Amino acid sequence: MNYLYRGKQFYTYYTAKIYDEDWKFLSKYLNDEQLKIFLQLPLYEQRHSIDVAYSVLHMRPDASRELVIAALMHDIGKGNALTPLKKALAVLLDKFMHKLAVKLSKRWYFLYIYYNHPEIGGKLAKKIGLPGRSIYLIEHHNDRDPADEDVILLQNADGKN
Ligand SMILES: [Fe+2]
Ligand SMILES: [Fe+2]
Repeated sequence: MNYLYRGKQFYTYYTAKIYDEDWKFLSKYLNDEQLKIFLQLPLYEQRHSIDVAYSVLHMRPDASRELVIAALMHDIGKGNALTPLKKALAVLLDKFMHKLAVKLSKRWYFLYIYYNHPEIGGKLAKKIGLPGRSIYLIEHHNDRDPADEDVILLQNADGKN
């Protein structure tokens, strides 16, 4: 991850759009209740999630439906807690002061969400009836050194967007 990439993320924050083809794509994978939860994410997170799903399909055209759904919904646990600035701060703290960051995550809500959104997202996913496999992938999308092939692919796609 470099500074140019971070710059791109800030740019995307202000310019993110969802197009007709994206709506069609979303409606192929999510029912109304699930779409409602998806739409509670800030627009730039919606854009990010759609792009992660497209990347997954680009890298593996025969990706399972459960994996594509997981890609679309992997960050639903974030809700509105992570603005780009807070996310950038969380990434830096985690990288250079990991132990302190973990301690602070008990006090700072955005750090708590940064570390725990996979688990929170998994619970939410269960509530809205996502497939078990998708729930598993959401819960594990930030694991270190994953062995599951789909988790690895999801992480690759997540890192690209
Ligand atoms: Fe995430
Ligand atoms: Fe993500």
